[in-house]
Amino acid sequence: MKKIYLIGIGPGNPDYLTLQAINTMKKVDVFFILEKGERKGFKEFIKIRKEILERYLDRGTYRVVSAKIPERKKNRKSYKEGVKTWRQQKAEVITELIEDKMKDSEIGAFLIWGDPSLYDGHLEILQHILKEGAVNFEYKVIPGITSIQVLAAMHKIPLNRIGESIVITTGRKVKEYAPAEITNTVVLLDTYSAFKHFKDSDIDIYWGGYLGSKDEILLSGRLRDIIEDLKKLRSKAKREKGWLMDTYILRR
Ligand SMILES: C[S@@+](CC[C@H](N)C(=O)[O-])C[C@H]1O[C@@H](n2cnc3c(N)ncnc32)[C@H](O)[C@@H]1O
Repeated sequence: MKKIYLIGIGPGNPDYLTLQAINTMKKVDVFFILEKGERKGFKEFIKIRKEILERYLDRGTYRVVSAKIPERKKNRKSYKEGVKTWRQQKAEVITELIEDKMKDSEIGAFLIWGDPSLYDGHLEILQHILKEGAVNFEYKVIPGITSIQVLAAMHKIPLNRIGESIVITTGRKVKEYAPAEITNTVVLLDTYSAFKHFKDSDIDIYWGGYLGSKDEILLSGRLRDIIEDLKKLRSKAKREKGWLMDTYILRR
């Protein structure tokens, strides 16, 4: 039977691969690379994946198959519906790849940014494909270091303080919280600086952009004291690099 690995590669630095990830990569016949579009960030994510393959594997021991997937279109009425439609389109592309680009009993893999369990759709897409029954395969997940772990390490802070919970959410959802509800909240996927919502509260922020890469930027402090610097830093980074990936912790 065909086998698919979802291999967590960490959030952008080839040093973050685990030994398990490297040993699994050595068994893979074909790596699937999904190309999302022409934007600068997307191209850089593909470059990093190719660098990882060249660094850890011997040439000629594996194949790389690239496929184009559409960019997610905004659904103004429902964010969830927009993501569902996009995942459906991705599922169709992945089904074709597994069906047409792998021989029986071969091993295929997707190199997943960070860890496959954190805000990543591939696991659910594979499960959906199996349920649809168009193609059959086994699958396995190889965990990776998440952007959250790198953020905590770079700021030299534990993710939780004694007896405390951690909330992990997105820029879109964190805006639904009242400032008083924020104790220890990790925010990913924030396009619109949702931290602005909490600027009048006694909250500290631990922020990291391009974590793990040579362009890594860190900033921390009382939110109200550094918010203007942070806004400028984010705009400058987006302007100069053409894209930004950042994660932060809001902590009372
Ligand atoms: C689609 S989620 C994927 C998360 C990933 N699976 C992980 O384990 O970190 C993308 C979000 O992760 C965060 N992220 C991923 N890589 C990052 C990096 N190198 N630096 C800062 N944030 C990062 C950002 O919040 C970004 O919007």
